[in-house]
Amino acid sequence: MIRVRRIPMDDPLFAQAVDLRERVLLGPVGWTYEQYLDESPGREETCEHFVALAERSEGPRVVGTAMLLASGSDGLSSPGAAKPEGRFGKVLQVAVDRQMHGQGVGRKLMVAIEARAFAPEDAGGLGLDGLYCHAQHTAIGFYDRLGWATESDAFEEAGIVHRRMGIRAGGEAS
Ligand SMILES: CC(C)(COP(=O)(O)OP(=O)(O)OC[C@H]1O[C@@H](n2cnc3c(N)ncnc32)[C@H](O)[C@@H]1OP(=O)(O)O)[C@@H](O)C(=O)NCCC(=O)NCCS
Repeated sequence: MIRVRRIPMDDPLFAQAVDLRERVLLGPVGWTYEQYLDESPGREETCEHFVALAERSEGPRVVGTAMLLASGSDGLSSPGAAKPEGRFGKVLQVAVDRQMHGQGVGRKLMVAIEARAFAPEDAGGLGLDGLYCHAQHTAIGFYDRLGWATESDAFEEAGIVHRRMGIRAGGEAS
């Protein structure tokens, strides 16, 4: 049973989420977490942090994580894509434990993020008009399965080919 929670950075589970990001996302491109912080000053504090938790005998284990950047205009432009009209959020650092790939963990994370992003503000959500991400080329099929649309040509980021992908509130691909 996997449950998804939004956690503050001072939650004890945050260190597990960082460890997972280092193993699955940052390490493979030769980065440490400290380098990521240097490259993106203030980013961690500006984002909301989500974790997917599996119950283990020793306590909850973070098996998936993702970030949602919903304030400011940071990152709202992507190479080769028009800046969208409305209030958009960016999903970043989506990572699932390799041993748990293909078991629906990534989907649960994204469902939770979309629910948070698109619920009206008076219902505890952010009331955003859309979400987007810079999808690594190997993960495009994942976002595609979740109903996201490709919004840009290929571009390089951290030495990896990416495309911008997005979805509108209400589940429409943008
Ligand atoms: C991409 C990633 C987050 C997917 O997480 P996951 O838990 O394995 O995905 P899920 O099991 O929830 O898959 C949901 C659907 O997407 C599909 N899918 C998952 N990964 C896919 C991929 N890389 N390519 C194509 N389809 C994929 C699944 O088959 C499933 O389809 P279904 O609903 O028809 O059964 C995970 O593989 C990962 O952490 N990869 C390494 C880091 C990475 O690439 N992060 C994204 C950076 S943009």
